[in-house]
Amino acid sequence: MDHERQVAVLRRIAESGERRVGLFGTHSRVQPASTYTDVDQFALEQRVLFRNGPVLMGLTSECAESGAYLTATFDRVPIVVIRQPDGSLRAMVNACRHRGAPLLEGRGDGLRRLSCPYHAWSYELDGALHARPLTEGAFDDVTIDCGLHQVAVAERHGLIFVRPGSAEPIDVDAFLCGAADDLASFDIAASVHVETRVTEWEMNWKLVFDTFTESYHIRTLHRESLAPTFDSHGSVFEPFGPHLLNVGFRKDIVNEFAKPEAEQSLLPYGTVQYFLLPNAMLCHQVDHLELWRFEPIDVRHTRVSTTVLADVGPLSERTERYLCKNLDLLLKVTGTEDFPLMEQIQRNLDSGALPEVVYGRIEPSLVHFHESIDAALAAGRLG
Ligand code: FES
Ligand SMILES: [Fe+2]
Repeated sequence: MDHERQVAVLRRIAESGERRVGLFGTHSRVQPASTYTDVDQFALEQRVLFRNGPVLMGLTSECAESGAYLTATFDRVPIVVIRQPDGSLRAMVNACRHRGAPLLEGRGDGLRRLSCPYHAWSYELDGALHARPLTEGAFDDVTIDCGLHQVAVAERHGLIFVRPGSAEPIDVDAFLCGAADDLASFDIAASVHVETRVTEWEMNWKLVFDTFTESYHIRTLHRESLAPTFDSHGSVFEPFGPHLLNVGFRKDIVNEFAKPEAEQSLLPYGTVQYFLLPNAMLCHQVDHLELWRFEPIDVRHTRVSTTVLADVGPLSERTERYLCKNLDLLLKVTGTEDFPLMEQIQRNLDSGALPEVVYGRIEPSLVHFHESIDAALAAGRLG
C-alpha cells in the first residue's frame, strides 16, 4: 500500500469519530443460517467459486526454483503446480493417468520427474508421460495421450492463481478488480517463505473468513490477548469487486494523526487484510506478510493453511525465529479463541434452531463478503 493510500486510510480513521461510527457500512444484512449448513449451496459454491475459479494457489516465493511444487484440492480436484526449468509454471491434475493415484503431496522442491507410488509410471515436470515400467506388450494398444491433464495457471504480483476445472486463461488484474496496485506495492514476489502450518476445523469455510472480517469481537472474545492493544470499535472496509480490503488497527494509531502527512504511516499500526475470494486472505502485519488459505473439505469441514513470510530475503536465523514466534502467537489466538468458537457456531447452526444470523453495519466487510458470494452463485461466476 503506497504512502498516499496509507495517508488516506489514516484520514478515514481519524475522521470516523471516537467510536469509529464513520467506518460503519451503509446497511446491515440478515443471512439465512442455511448458508453455512446446506449441502446443495455448498455444492454450488464448490462448482462456481472453487472449480471454475480462479483460486489463489500460492505465492511465487513458495515455488521459486525449477522443480518446486505446491498441491491443493478444490472441489475435490487435486491440483499440483510445478515450476519448470524455463521459469514458467504448469498446473496439472495431481492424479496418475494409469488408474488415478495421487502423485505428489504437500509442498516441496528439487523435483526432476514425478513418479507414481502405485506402479511407478513417471512424468516429466511438464506432465508429459516419461515411462511405464514393464510396458512391453502391456499398453501398446492404448492410443490416448497419457500426459497429466493441464489446467490454467497465471502468475502476477507474486501471486499464483489456478483454474482447477479448466484451461480457460486467467486474467489476474481483471480478476483482482483494482486490488492489483495495492498488492504490487507489497512486492510479494520478493518475500521469502518462512513456514506454513496446516490445521483442520469442523466448520463451514465461510466461518473462517467471517472471524477475520470484523474487529467488533476483539473486546470480548480476545479480551486478554488482543483487546489491550487493538481497537474494537470498527475496521476500514473497501471493496475491490467481490474481493475486499479490511484494515484493523491498534489503539495507539491516534499518535499518528498529529504528525504531518509526509511522515505518517499506517502499516506499523494496521492489520491490512486483502480478502481474495474465494479462498485466501493476504495480511500485512506490522513488519511481515501472512497468507491464509482455505480448502473446503465438505459443508462443515475446512482445511486452513497459515503461512508466514518475511518481507525480503535473505532470511537471518534471528528473523526466522522472530517470525516463527509470531506464527505461534497467531495460531494460538485463532486456534484457542476464534476457531473453537466458530466450531460451536457451526453446531448451533446445524441444529436448525436458528433460521438466520445478522451482520451489522459495524461489520461492513462481513456484509460485502456474503453479498459477493450470493451474487456469484446467482450469476454462476465470481466478479
Ligand atoms: S496408478 Fe499410477 S502407475 Fe498405476
Ligand atoms: Fe478474532
